[in-house]
Amino acid sequence: MKARRLSSLGASVFSELDDLKKELEKDGKQLINLSIGSPDRAPSQDIQKVLAEGVLDGSNYGYTLTRGTASFRAECAHWYKKRFDVDLDPQKEVLPLMGSQDGLAHIFLALCDPGDVALIPDPGYPIYTAGCILAGGEKVALPLREENGFLPDLSAIAPEMARKAKIMFLNYPNNPTAAVAPLSFFEEVVHFAKKNEIVVCHDAAYSELAFDGYRPASFLQVPGAKEVGIEFHSVSKTYNLAGVRLGFVVGNTQVVDALAELKSNIDYGVFEPILQAGAYALSASQDNVISNRQAYQERRDIWVEGCVQAGWSMPSPQGSMFIWAPVPTNQDSRTFAFDLARKAGVIVVPGVAFGEYGEGYVRIGLVQEPVVLVEAVRRVQEFLAHP
Ligand SMILES: Cc1ncc(COP(=O)(O)O)c(C=O)c1O
Repeated sequence: MKARRLSSLGASVFSELDDLKKELEKDGKQLINLSIGSPDRAPSQDIQKVLAEGVLDGSNYGYTLTRGTASFRAECAHWYKKRFDVDLDPQKEVLPLMGSQDGLAHIFLALCDPGDVALIPDPGYPIYTAGCILAGGEKVALPLREENGFLPDLSAIAPEMARKAKIMFLNYPNNPTAAVAPLSFFEEVVHFAKKNEIVVCHDAAYSELAFDGYRPASFLQVPGAKEVGIEFHSVSKTYNLAGVRLGFVVGNTQVVDALAELKSNIDYGVFEPILQAGAYALSASQDNVISNRQAYQERRDIWVEGCVQAGWSMPSPQGSMFIWAPVPTNQDSRTFAFDLARKAGVIVVPGVAFGEYGEGYVRIGLVQEPVVLVEAVRRVQEFLAHP
């Protein structure tokens, strides 16, 4: 009863993990779920207040434009200038999204035809592949390897494939590997994209979640970047607004226009109170973002220090809300993760769920309070002592 294309979507590992969780819960097991990427913290009270006031204003309930309000776009541009010192034209170079996922899912459809090639990081956040498949595109994996700091090796892409590719996805700070990218890498990307006429889509969903004073760069800081690409931002993680569905994309006017045109044929714009709350979040004091960062950094330290003490060594990441850890036993990532779930009740995602190059790793989401993470670490220590 359903289209064939649906069966080519989504890694089966995610649904198997879901089934296992349900089975263990049914057996009464107390699970600690570190498999999801959804923030567990609430947005600041004042962001909630702006949203609530907007909801209580009866004039806010009409359809909105795909391009959103001038004030939301202006705040996006101000924030970009303040944060990255990048100038944006709020009329032409900024487009609100119903979460960055909306743009990431639709960009291939807006720019490419069936059979066009997309360069997609592997391991990678699944929506890049899903968007490509739904639009009839061809995925070419860009392996992210530990020895390259989980950056794709652009020089390893066959020249004929580079010329054929129409679009390329990147994501730093990265999900799932938690790697960060220096500006010099983005310079290399811009050069590569110009040479091969490829549109670069940089997913910067975690640009504000970075630790130890590190501030991730914007791809658009590279001179000439706007000629070749766009950058996606999310308010979900930065301001703990995942459920309200708001993000935005900035950069190349023609690409932004194509996405806006496609979206206006599919839907209307974002609910006005959400745009108001987003504009407020971007323009008000960023103290809540600082406290968010500190919270994730504390969680990172609890997890990494506890695991290292138990003999499970793993890098301590500079950004994102994840830990990407090598499997500490002689098992594949799926077997290890499922064993950990069954015996310790700690749920992590097998790396292979993010692509074949994710094999050998697991992803741990820092989405629980410290006291819960301390208990998770205790269970991991016990599990590793008697696997
Ligand atoms: C790398 C990455 N990009 C995009 C998204 C989607 O974010 P949004 O809530 O803005 O749609 C996520 C969500 O987990 C993510 O991990």
